[in-house]
Amino acid sequence: MERVRGAGAVLAVLVVLGAPPAAGEELSGVFQEMLKFECHFINGTERVRNVLRKIYNREQYVHFDSDVGVFVGDTPYGEKFAKKWNSDQEWLEYARSLVDTCCPQNYKLYTPFSVERRVPPSVSISLVPSSSQPGPGRLLCSGMDFYPAPVQVRWFQDGQELPEHVVATDVVPNGDWTYQVLVLLEIPPQRGVTYSCQVEHVSLEHPLSRHWEMPPDTVRSKILVGVRGFVLGLVFLALGLGFYLREKVKRGPQRGGVVPPALPQPLGPPAPPVSLLSPPFLSPQSS
Ligand SMILES: *[C@@H]1O[C@H](CO)[C@@H](O)[C@H](O)[C@H]1NC(C)=O
Repeated sequence: MERVRGAGAVLAVLVVLGAPPAAGEELSGVFQEMLKFECHFINGTERVRNVLRKIYNREQYVHFDSDVGVFVGDTPYGEKFAKKWNSDQEWLEYARSLVDTCCPQNYKLYTPFSVERRVPPSVSISLVPSSSQPGPGRLLCSGMDFYPAPVQVRWFQDGQELPEHVVATDVVPNGDWTYQVLVLLEIPPQRGVTYSCQVEHVSLEHPLSRHWEMPPDTVRSKILVGVRGFVLGLVFLALGLGFYLREKVKRGPQRGGVVPPALPQPLGPPAPPVSLLSPPFLSPQSS
């Protein structure tokens, strides 16, 4: 649980260039000697392990592990090297003491900005288009720029946890001592349901929640308004036509001056068109 594996390390790198390059000349090679000094803090400073490594051109040739207590060769050359260093009792004692001297000192220096570093995540929910399925898309919860890496992200639907249909990326290091994680809800969001993304992290006193609801569909509501307006218009048109034709029928036979007397006969009785055109609620009056 407390297995903090900090590696406070002193790293000495010696790069020897193959030949002193004259101006404009290509390098003939790069030869690299590297010394790694690692402190592994397995339980704070209670349990510490020190590993020293000597590496030439990326190949480790000798190392010293404080759990072993002697130098061990990793290549034929390294074995010769180890034999020589192990024969120097004073040097060996010094190497063995580093785990108790150098490492705890490094721990004090490095922990304030490593082990104790806390950066809270910024959490947001976004609707992402689904490439495989049509529809409203999928909800994505992003936890960004937090430290350290362990984090728990959960999805809730109207307060109920959704343990299934949830896929998460690995916790990805950003390379600047922060991490990020993305957690996708694989089911399409529904209208009228509140979705929540809850993040728990050591930097947060309380879990952090973000909520999301499907916004009103603007295109659909505009179409609805249009259809309603059109239907209302049709009703008024029918009403107007009905009244107009009824008036026309009433006046037609009485006032010969308005309608020529010869016309009603070829057109037939004017009553049927009224009952056909007017809405049903007008027909009892018109017939
Ligand atoms: C870590 O060290 C503490 C003492 O500082 C000890 O109480 C605890 O049991 C240790 N934990 C493990 C996992 O060894």
